[in-house]
Amino acid sequence: MPRRKKIALIGAGNIGGELAALAARDELGDVVLFDIPDKLGLAQGKALDLEQNGAVLGHDAGIKGTASWDDCAGADVVIVTAGVPRKPGMSRDDLLGINLKIIRGVAENIKAKCKDAFVIVISNPLDAMVYEMKKVTGFPRERVVGMAGVLDAGRFQLFLAREAGVSVKDVRAMVLGGHGDTMVPVLSYCTIDGVPVRQLIAADKLQAIADRTRNGGGEIVKLMGTSAYYAPASAAIQMARAFLRDEKRLLPAAAYLDGEYGYKDLYMGVPVVIGGAGVERIVTIELSADERGMLDRSAAAVRELIDAGKKL
Ligand SMILES: NC(=O)c1ccc[n+]([C@@H]2O[C@H](COP(=O)([O-])OP(=O)(O)OC[C@H]3O[C@@H](n4cnc5c(N)ncnc54)[C@H](O)[C@@H]3O)[C@@H](O)[C@H]2O)c1
Repeated sequence: MPRRKKIALIGAGNIGGELAALAARDELGDVVLFDIPDKLGLAQGKALDLEQNGAVLGHDAGIKGTASWDDCAGADVVIVTAGVPRKPGMSRDDLLGINLKIIRGVAENIKAKCKDAFVIVISNPLDAMVYEMKKVTGFPRERVVGMAGVLDAGRFQLFLAREAGVSVKDVRAMVLGGHGDTMVPVLSYCTIDGVPVRQLIAADKLQAIADRTRNGGGEIVKLMGTSAYYAPASAAIQMARAFLRDEKRLLPAAAYLDGEYGYKDLYMGVPVVIGGAGVERIVTIELSADERGMLDRSAAAVRELIDAGKKL
């Protein structure tokens, strides 16, 4: 008999709560909202509020707040936000020391309790955290992916749409590379309803938009003192849905590279196809010489961070 899918959310903070709300609204499956014992009340309170939210809105998903890994056992999808977010003035890389330890513990438990899950990592610094997740769990690369590209592309699309004076629905854009200051907004593949964006927006404006995209997370941290959470949660749910419904979406995501794009043993944002088998394919696209140079610099920055993590 088919059973309901189970989605374990590790971290019941700002993004975790919004993930639970979206997963329930979409009826993707039953949700387990996990946090550390100190935050059990928060996880349980959010879960109860969200189940009541479903009663008001007319959708039905079980949502359980917990601090026990046993409740996460057998999850089909695990989304990890455990860790600390940035404060104003911090870079994502400043979080490496503290979040790496947290991810190691989380990964051990995922390995023990959720051995068949599709794992989406959100915690920062993203590329180093998802690398660690794969290393500790030993899961195949198809089942360990990092969320960043969908969010960064969303930001890029918004700024392009506002500049062009068109609906964001008509803008397609891609952001590759590491999820940090070196990320690569790929202008050569940006289109507005199929029209290359360079035909519609002046070069200096495009440059400013690319820069604003790179700083898109920091802009929000500066405004509200902590990281964004609505758009990050929506981006991760898009990836989870692609897996659970075998949608075969082509999305930018941090994937484990084993020679693709000329990089080995590295996680970085590239276009991938997500379907029922997880990251089913890494898609190789041609880049301009300029973009290729930026991607190389981004890969070097990610490598440096991963190497720093290996010493901790
Ligand atoms: N990848 C991206 O694009 C992206 C975007 C925004 C934020 N982030 C990152 O996502 C992470 C979460 O952000 P947030 O705003 O939800 O933070 P938050 O502080 O609101 O929530 C994090 C939660 O993790 C919990 N936690 C800590 N250790 C844990 C453990 N061992 N097991 C389970 N839970 C644990 C905390 O108690 C807290 O409730 C941060 O690292 C942030 O930088 C990533």
